[in-house]
Parts: sequence; structure tokens; C-alpha cells
Amino acid sequence: MSDIEQIEAEVLTAINGAGDLAALDGIRVAELGKKGRVSGLMKTLGGMDPEERKEMGPKLNALKNRLGDAIDARKTTLEDAELDARLASEKADLTLPPRPYRTGTLHPVMQVFEEIEEIFGAMGFAVAEGPDIEDDFHNFTALNFPIGHPAREDHDTFFMTPDAEGERKVLRTHTSPVQIRTMMSQEPPIRVIIPGRVYRNDWDATHTPMFHQVEGLVIDKVSHMGHLKGCLTDFARAFFEVDEVETRFRPHFFPFTEPSAEMDVKCDRSGGTVKVGQGEDWLEVLGSGMVHPNVLRNCGLDPNEYQGFAFGMGVDRLAMLKYGMPDLRPYFESDVRWLSHYGFTPWLLPSLSGGLS
Ligand code: DAH
Repeated sequence: MSDIEQIEAEVLTAINGAGDLAALDGIRVAELGKKGRVSGLMKTLGGMDPEERKEMGPKLNALKNRLGDAIDARKTTLEDAELDARLASEKADLTLPPRPYRTGTLHPVMQVFEEIEEIFGAMGFAVAEGPDIEDDFHNFTALNFPIGHPAREDHDTFFMTPDAEGERKVLRTHTSPVQIRTMMSQEPPIRVIIPGRVYRNDWDATHTPMFHQVEGLVIDKVSHMGHLKGCLTDFARAFFEVDEVETRFRPHFFPFTEPSAEMDVKCDRSGGTVKVGQGEDWLEVLGSGMVHPNVLRNCGLDPNEYQGFAFGMGVDRLAMLKYGMPDLRPYFESDVRWLSHYGFTPWLLPSLSGGLS
């Protein structure tokens, strides 16, 4: 075997046996480096006669190239193996629960939404929804707020910047615009509740710029004020989880209902907390009324044929009353201590038969 063949065989064996990148680099330096064996052979070219040099030069160059290629190939193999090992050892199972294991809680607002949906669901109401960004027509005009009427100002409306056509959309100030959307897209009889977020520019212990309402709408040919009172009194009894509750319907004004009334429930405030179903005080719970003939007309319904009632309630305020939370601002601060104190287990859905809360 010639020198070249012998060196090649030895070096290839060493390269393929190199266990890691450091060992491989050691071989590269020892064989192909300046003081390496192959370089040593190259240096002998200078002392050869021209004929011999002509033969040996290309052979040595080819040897150098073959060994270089073998080192590169081994390097790729070792790098791949190293990456595979890292991927295997560093893998994270994202489906594992965080430690220490902690169950999240249902926000009181979500709990109250679910309680209200359960109560009205049992009475045969379906759930309807609409967009948070509304136009002036649905939020005000179709609901019989005359242009320039002070009731529009009462709502502390957030206006969007005007679009290309100059139209200024609003963040809906109440869930009532979904009454309009429902009447314009469904044939009576209609019986819906509408849960959703609403927005007004107001910020203190009992007002936040975003809050939640549930709207109700019943449209058919027969429903009257007596049905409104019965339906909402039943709701109050179920919601506050008391056997009997006295309600009072106090005349009020809303542009979209006539007559309009606010519903109060009898309560006791003597102990610093509000107890519904006892005592001599009154607590305002919601707004309601018979749908105004103009509103029916704006939705293409003939008020001589159709009638019905509507109501609207503030969910955040109902949650405060029912669960004794004094301040609305922590509702939206995402403080886990508050959430674990006031939150509800996510596993139990409110049910009329099993208990709401
Ligand atoms: N939209 C009213 C508000 O935000 C609440 C309301 C009152 C809704 C009476 C109704 C209603 O549907 O009949 O203040």
C-alpha cells in the first residue's frame, strides 16, 4: 500500500469514529493542518524531480480534497445528531397544567350573564346578539331618539372618527339597538334576550366606561303590561333566589317605550348589605316598557297589528347587588386575588332546578 492510500485509510477511519465535533476538529488539525501529516507530504513535493512531482502533485491534492469532504460530511452528521439530542432533551409539553395547579374562576359578570340566560331560557326566550360598533340609526334614531334630543347627550357617547362617507359610528351605549336588528330580521312572535357589552364615557366606583347589559324583547299580537310585570317579577324572584319578592313599577321615561317604567324590588339595607325579599326599602333593578309604536314602525311592523314589551338591565350592577361587591372598578383589573375571592367555579352551570349560584 502506498503512503497515500495508507494515510487515507487511517484518516477516514478516524474521521468516521469521531464521537463529537471537538474530536473531529482535532483530527482535521492533526492531518490537514499546517503541521499535519498531509501537509507534511505536500512539503515533500518541493524536493521531487519534475516527473515525480507531476504525478504526485495531483494525487496529494485529490487526497486533501477527499479528506476535507469526509470531514465536512461527518461534521453535518454530528451537528444533526447534536440538534436531535437537544430537541429531545429540551422539549416542553405545552399541554401540561401550570404548577402549582390552580383552577381559574368564572368572573361574576359571566356568572350573572349565565344566571339571567338560564332564567329567561326557561321562559322560552332565545339569545340574540349585535355589534359593539353601531351606527346612529340603530343606537338612537330607530329607537325614537329625535335628532338633537337631550336623551342622546345623557348617554355620554363614545364617537368613532368619521369614515370616508363622513359617517360617525358609535360604541353602542346600550343593547337596545339589537331590538331594532332583531325586529328587522325576524318575523314576530319574537321573544329574545340580548346580552352584551356597552360603552359610556363615565368612570367612578359604580360606573366603568365599558359595562354589560341584558336587553329583553317580546313582540307578538297580545303581550301587554300585565305580561311585562309578571315576567319581570318572576325574573326578580328567580334571580335573587327568594321565594317571594315584592316589585314596584315606577313611571319613567325612555324614548323607545310608552308607557315606561323602572322596576324596583323590596329590600332591606339595615345591615350594610342589601337583602332582597325583606325589609321596607326599594332597590331599582331595571328599565322596561311597552315598545313605542314609532319603534315598531321604524322596523316595518304595523303598531295596529303588533305590540310587545322590552326591558334592559345592568349586569355589573346586578352582580354587585347579588354578591355584595362594593366597587365596580376591580371588575376589570384582572387581579387574581379578587378573581379567586369573588369568582365562581367554572364547573357548575347555573340551573333553575339545581340552584343558580
Ligand atoms: N336602554 C336603556 C338604558 O341603557 C335600558 C332600557 C330601558 C332598555 C327600558 C329597555 C327598556 O329595553 O324598555 O338605559
